[in-house]
Amino acid sequence: MTINIDYSDCLDFINRKEIIKKAETSISHYENLIKRTGAGNNFTGWLNLPEQSIDQVEKINRIAVELRAQADTTVVIGIGGSYLGSKSVIESLGACLQQNEKGKNHEVLFAGQNISEDYHFQLITYLSGKVFNIIVISKSGTTTEPAIAFRLLKKQLEENMGGKRINRYIIAITDSEKGALRKLADQESYESFIIPDDVGGRYSVLTPAGLLPIAVAGYDINELISGAAQMAKETRDNGNAGTNIALVYASIRNILYKKGKLIELLVNYEPGLHYLAEWWKQLFGESEGKNGKGIFPASADLTTDLHSLGQYIQDGNRILFETVLSVSSVNSELQIPVDENNLDDFNYIAGRRLSEVNAKAEEGTIMAHVLGGIPVIKINIPRINEKYLGQLLYFFEISCALSGYILGVNPFDQPGVEAYKKNMFRLLGKP
Ligand code: PA5
Repeated sequence: MTINIDYSDCLDFINRKEIIKKAETSISHYENLIKRTGAGNNFTGWLNLPEQSIDQVEKINRIAVELRAQADTTVVIGIGGSYLGSKSVIESLGACLQQNEKGKNHEVLFAGQNISEDYHFQLITYLSGKVFNIIVISKSGTTTEPAIAFRLLKKQLEENMGGKRINRYIIAITDSEKGALRKLADQESYESFIIPDDVGGRYSVLTPAGLLPIAVAGYDINELISGAAQMAKETRDNGNAGTNIALVYASIRNILYKKGKLIELLVNYEPGLHYLAEWWKQLFGESEGKNGKGIFPASADLTTDLHSLGQYIQDGNRILFETVLSVSSVNSELQIPVDENNLDDFNYIAGRRLSEVNAKAEEGTIMAHVLGGIPVIKINIPRINEKYLGQLLYFFEISCALSGYILGVNPFDQPGVEAYKKNMFRLLGKP
């Protein structure tokens, strides 16, 4: 079984023929991507990661076991594509408490995704006196946020270890040759992994940058990769425009964009998927938002945000379309209890499962949004586990690349992110 897309709730706004025609005329973009003849073709190594990453699984799992054995906590340092992939999978699988039984109480924390003094102060205060591992990830090896966090955490670890050598607690994931982190890793003999040259940060979840933290958290990276491989067969290896779900999704997005739907709202009804949406926003935002073009990727956690953004979605400026991450089966079972007094009048749903109520909320919300003028695409996910997450990640990656090509941009560069850095360095007086 694989995830699939259902666009029947878009058909009040665009028709099936239009979608198929757009997918068919976009087949040249698919070919450019697959044959690596399109813009940014030297950054398309991620297309084959499901097959290539398998070779690394043994080493990744071995290191993960060692890290888990020598400390109860691992701090993952990275920003953007160097942390969102692993964070999204770990959070999706440990919905509420971060660490479920599979995590066997190994705590995975994140740092270097901001420059907040309070955040990092609280983190190092919490880690004071503890033995912990550090996985420091930076493809360029020169990014400010993770470099600052690494200094702080390395110093804290040195203090905690009372002068003992700390290099076995540090793993570096970076370029094979370039950058300060590579130099440091070689100099200090840190165990290290490589992010391949032809894979950009936001497409790196299936490299060690994503896989090692996920394995350390106790999750099955073999399943994640095999899910991605299934999706590669369905999309990368499928030149049939009508059945290639990535091409269909990319086509619908571009048709809606042309019709003035400038914002795509990715919504979930499972709070564990919050960071999946953060990863998705980075992927699509950095890939498509350039040359004055691009759908703005936004997200909402429902039903939570129906009590905040809900009003706007239903009734505000009609520049939105919605993509729902619709999960068919949950992993646990919980029924609503009967209450003898029934003061809240909810005994009419007593005995029913929360997932049933959640599903009705989703169905009712989609109906309301469509009536309110919002086209809705549903991505059906059988359940949240490593396999389906692997499918979903690959599906979004290839959809994003195709969508960028259809839009007429290079989905693999990010010239815009340099602007803030230039100003920050000048203001800091960088020599
Ligand atoms: O997708 C990207 O390329 C970026 O978001 C990077 O992942 C992010 O800027 C971090 O870069 P680096 O891994 O070089 O520290």
